[in-house]
Amino acid sequence: MKVTIVGAGAVGATTADNLIRRNVAEEIILLDIKEGFAEGKAQDMAQTAALLGFESKIKGVTNDYLSTAGSTVAVITSGIPRKPGMTREELIGTNANIVKSVVENLVKHSPDIIIVIVSNPMDTMTYLALKSSGLPKNRIIGMGGTLDSARFKYQLSEKLNASAADLNAIVIGGHGDTTMIPLIKHSTWNSIPVSNFLTAEEQAEIVHKTMVGGATLTSLIGTSAWYAPGAATAAVVESIVRDQGKLFTASVYLEGEFGQEDINLGVPVIINKKGWDRIIPLQLDEEDKEKFSKSADAVRAMNNVLKE
Ligand code: NAI
Repeated sequence: MKVTIVGAGAVGATTADNLIRRNVAEEIILLDIKEGFAEGKAQDMAQTAALLGFESKIKGVTNDYLSTAGSTVAVITSGIPRKPGMTREELIGTNANIVKSVVENLVKHSPDIIIVIVSNPMDTMTYLALKSSGLPKNRIIGMGGTLDSARFKYQLSEKLNASAADLNAIVIGGHGDTTMIPLIKHSTWNSIPVSNFLTAEEQAEIVHKTMVGGATLTSLIGTSAWYAPGAATAAVVESIVRDQGKLFTASVYLEGEFGQEDINLGVPVIINKKGWDRIIPLQLDEEDKEKFSKSADAVRAMNNVLKE
């Protein structure tokens, strides 16, 4: 199986690195617009095979979409990342043009492709990819909630001094500092609600730290993060390629689910060889329903910028 990653920058290369180490695909094509950049990154990674013992082949190309032909999955990370103080939404104009042309080129050479969108503002870029590609809705997946949920589990694990693997916690809604909704009331530590262990203030602090998790890293590092984004993206790709049917939060096209239509937003979905297979309903209380609706309003406003 062949996986293409467009954008050999921080997140794209880290995604590729995670995938080759686990032999997820026989062949990975890393494509970038910057001359020689993807070739260099791919060679560097390929040279770890003797040390790490994987069989996956990785090849870097400069804007050569013919090499991507026959890909099962493509990941789009091309675009500009956030700088300190910037919101994900400020990236819209530049990244919209990039995402649109990349999608067009990918579909031309791999009509059956499943596309995972990472570029920000991710929910809007995912909506744009769906509308501009004409692909069935199940084959366009926005990656954001998987990362935000991992960050939520990290914050919980720090506070509880628990293993992140023992925690169940998800983030739904938009992939933005103010639009994401960490579902603290649904979170458990080995099936026991986390509210049994944490005060209301501690829970509020965890939710806040999760929501500003990306921005915190951006101010520390000077650009946006890549280790957790790359690992989260690779997990989604692996669930598609290996038909694992894992449950992730992903940005998918809603047609009435969660009370919303004609919008891409993060909800729990099963991810397998079909792309996202089905949406898992949640019983939200009035407070969380209200938050979801506000999140949708903010993402819809961003989508409308595209239509102007
Ligand atoms: P980066 O700047 O390290 O890499 C982006 C790469 O895209 C560069 O190598 C650039 O040359 C390439 N590129 C630009 N235009 C292109 C085109 N037309 N075709 C092919 N390649 C092109 O950025 P980084 O940190 O990897 O972030 C990438 C994107 O992912 C950003 O928009 C960022 O905001 C987003 N992001 C999203 C996350 C999520 O959870 N959805 C998490 C982290 C980042």
